[in-house]
Amino acid sequence: VIAVALSIYLLAQVCSTVGSVENPNRAQVVRITATSGADVNFVTQLRNKFNLDAWRDLHQTNATGDFFVPSHLVHVMGNLLKLHGIPFTVLIDDAARFIPKHVKREVKLRQRRAATEDHYRYKYLSYTKMNKFLERVQERATKADVYIGFIGKSFEGRDTPYVKITSKRDSRPRGTIFIDGGIHSREWISPAMALEVIHRLALNTEQDSQVDQLLDMFDFIVVPLVNPDGYAYTFMPETGVTLGRLWRKSRTSNYSNDFSCYGVDLNRNFGYKWNNSPSFGGSSDPCSPSFSGPYSFSEPESNNLRRLLLANKDVIKGYLSFHSYGQYMLYPWGYREDVEIEDERDLIHVAKAFKDIMQTKNYNYHVGGSAKSLYPAAGGSSDYVRGVVGVKYSYTLELPPVEGSWGFIIPERKVEPIVTDTWKGIKALLFRLHSYT
Ligand code: ARG
Ligand code: ZN
Repeated sequence: VIAVALSIYLLAQVCSTVGSVENPNRAQVVRITATSGADVNFVTQLRNKFNLDAWRDLHQTNATGDFFVPSHLVHVMGNLLKLHGIPFTVLIDDAARFIPKHVKREVKLRQRRAATEDHYRYKYLSYTKMNKFLERVQERATKADVYIGFIGKSFEGRDTPYVKITSKRDSRPRGTIFIDGGIHSREWISPAMALEVIHRLALNTEQDSQVDQLLDMFDFIVVPLVNPDGYAYTFMPETGVTLGRLWRKSRTSNYSNDFSCYGVDLNRNFGYKWNNSPSFGGSSDPCSPSFSGPYSFSEPESNNLRRLLLANKDVIKGYLSFHSYGQYMLYPWGYREDVEIEDERDLIHVAKAFKDIMQTKNYNYHVGGSAKSLYPAAGGSSDYVRGVVGVKYSYTLELPPVEGSWGFIIPERKVEPIVTDTWKGIKALLFRLHSYT
């Protein structure tokens, strides 16, 4: 804190003399490399001090993190990092111009493409289109039984569907694989991936015999969009730089009058070892992008998911929560990095099946404990599923990208390769999970 205060004081001096000359006044997304524990601490202090939006947070040494830096902080941040000898590169320059421009172009392209259920691989579906997609899939499914239910309503009153897909062959009891997407609204590749799973399993238009085998092994429950309010908000015209397309949280208005401070980070709101302090990756500040909420399960969205999880407590054999980005397959614990999970070897073994397949497609994935390999974050869904629901194989999957400058803003033309490749990895994971248990 002292180092920051001092640096900021110094910079205030510096900026007051050169600010008007040199201030680039453009928001940026920067990739910061931490080479020591002191670097990590310093970056963490900056993030907390400025309530920076971490696209990919930084907690490990010799790792990188991506941060959205609003225009008024670009100059100060750059100087502070230089002052402390912390290397960084600019991932997206002039983000306030680039992102809306990109969004506009994508919207135009999207409108030109037809909206049938087979086009979801080539475009991001809005909340409304997603619901139509699910209905069409249900109508068309002939080889599997598809049931659409609702886990409840979001804060703004949107129905939140889930899909249950089961084999038509016989009704003997099977273990259930539970998958969700869209906990964080800007991570659009996550619900897109969930729709891919639904389409593959329910329709199997590819006539993949492995799908028949999977349906013989497991029942599937998929909640493609846990946070429909946040997602709908990311489809609205840009209202600001980090608003609109880059919104992460839900849209609860209970905790702040400032609409830019609405919402709760739903992946900090689940009730296992819940803790809203920054050292546990959360926040008690409604304006923080990782606001944990006032208490665990304070939000309808997390509660809705909890109910469906608990209703299937005895049958769930595996849990996958889709997020982006960074290419990690993470297992518990996420709330603290100094707690070991006793059956880590099994969790790694199953995750490796995914990692190995993805490697053959040139995606480099990291398998590890959530807090250990990424950062501590209490209140995550996969900790809850492991700790309370009692599911041994509980994972958070951080989808692509890891390199390049796209972050959450993956162009639509890249959706199809990502979801088709990733589906192969998920199949491998499920086969291994089945043979291993
Ligand atoms: N990106 C996810 C989030 O911030 C990762 C959660 C995984 N858990 C963890 N402790 N890192 O919610
Ligand atoms: Zn996420």
